[in-house]
Amino acid sequence: MPKGKEFRNKFFALSPHFTYLPDEDRYLFALEKPQYKFNVIGAGNNGYEHIRVTMLEGRATIHGVYDPNPRSVARAQAAYKQFAPDGALVVYDSLEAACEDPEVDGLIISTPNYTHIDVIRVAAQSGKHILLEKPMATTIKDAYEIMQIAEAYENVLQIGLQYRYKAIYVEAIYEALERGSLGDIKMVSILEHRFPFLDKVNQWNKFSKFSGGTLVEKCCHYFDLLNLFSQSRPVSVFASGGMAVNFREFEYEGEKSDILDHAYVIVNYANGVRARFDLCMFAPMFYEELLICGDGGWLRAYENTDFLPEPRASNHLEIRCGDQRPSRIMHPCYPQFIEEAGHNGSTYFEHINFVDNIAGQETNTATPAEGFWSIVVGAAAEESAKTGQIVQIDALLQRNGIEI
Ligand SMILES: NC(=O)c1ccc[n+]([C@@H]2O[C@H](COP(=O)([O-])OP(=O)(O)OC[C@H]3O[C@@H](n4cnc5c(N)ncnc54)[C@H](O)[C@@H]3O)[C@@H](O)[C@H]2O)c1
Repeated sequence: MPKGKEFRNKFFALSPHFTYLPDEDRYLFALEKPQYKFNVIGAGNNGYEHIRVTMLEGRATIHGVYDPNPRSVARAQAAYKQFAPDGALVVYDSLEAACEDPEVDGLIISTPNYTHIDVIRVAAQSGKHILLEKPMATTIKDAYEIMQIAEAYENVLQIGLQYRYKAIYVEAIYEALERGSLGDIKMVSILEHRFPFLDKVNQWNKFSKFSGGTLVEKCCHYFDLLNLFSQSRPVSVFASGGMAVNFREFEYEGEKSDILDHAYVIVNYANGVRARFDLCMFAPMFYEELLICGDGGWLRAYENTDFLPEPRASNHLEIRCGDQRPSRIMHPCYPQFIEEAGHNGSTYFEHINFVDNIAGQETNTATPAEGFWSIVVGAAAEESAKTGQIVQIDALLQRNGIEI
């Protein structure tokens, strides 16, 4: 609880049990009055999560949406009404109208990956605070352009790499990077085994030209974490991957899907840290695991949702320090209503930090530069998987006309 604040808990404040209370009798259950208004550009699966989480977080409200798919708009209205039964979202008929509405303080961009570059070019004209979904772009060149837009931007431009706010990673970041429980980090490994990509509007995620490829689209989250734990720049990437099971027969408008469904990726960092990523997208659960080896300790963390009946903790973190210091085994988690709000609570904390950024407070949200480097590793891994060659990052950047 922040210092100087009385105890408040949103669980009670939002509970349907207490809707009978007149507003003037809400003290313990009072909600903060929203200070900011956001528009959501792209209200599909993820835009819906942003609407719900904005309303749940409570310091901002959603003012309107722009989305060409009427079903997405209808669902967005329904999500909004769960929190504001007497209200309705403004529905814009153009991107420009949604971006330029003077009522609005911030824009949440949650359109398909390949549209991000065009949407941000318009959105940035508004000067409003922006939360741009990951991956910030589908190519290194476009990601670099967005990073440059961000460098000149006077307001918040935050990238939606929110996995760092999953409870297991919050604790792992604290132990490994702040508390130094593992000594000097030497090896970092992340594994994600999960269901195939879900259905999307126009099935954009089945095609590399629209998504950037699996290792950019989905795995930028994990490359961001590898970069973060390594505390260094990637120098070379080798990947082996393919399309073994999913979408091999899938066609959309006469075009065959071309995305990887499994891969191993090795990343070497400038400071000597070695990292690995292991992806399988034909597994019957959602399971991700982090392993970090340092010269003073060993950390393993996982998140597991496998839909099996045996009661077990879905979040786990252990730190083993041999005979040096105490070892610990724990189950980091948020209250259930936050975990259930989306991506194991990480989107909720992404929003807390987005509003804190707007208020001028210092946070550790993903910067456009971090977003860029997550795409560099993802794009290098896609290229390596295609060519079978090790990709040197300097050469890759030069081929894209970028000198950093
Ligand atoms: N941070 C995360 O954990 C996370 C999770 C899921 C998705 N995402 C990202 O969110 C974005 C959207 O993914 P999704 O799963 O919601 O896809 P989706 O297909 O469910 O929704 C996309 C929505 O955008 C709309 N749209 C398409 N082009 C548009 C345009 N030019 N302007 C406005 N709206 C447009 C579509 O009609 C659709 O409603 C992607 O960039 C995806 O990578 C991030």
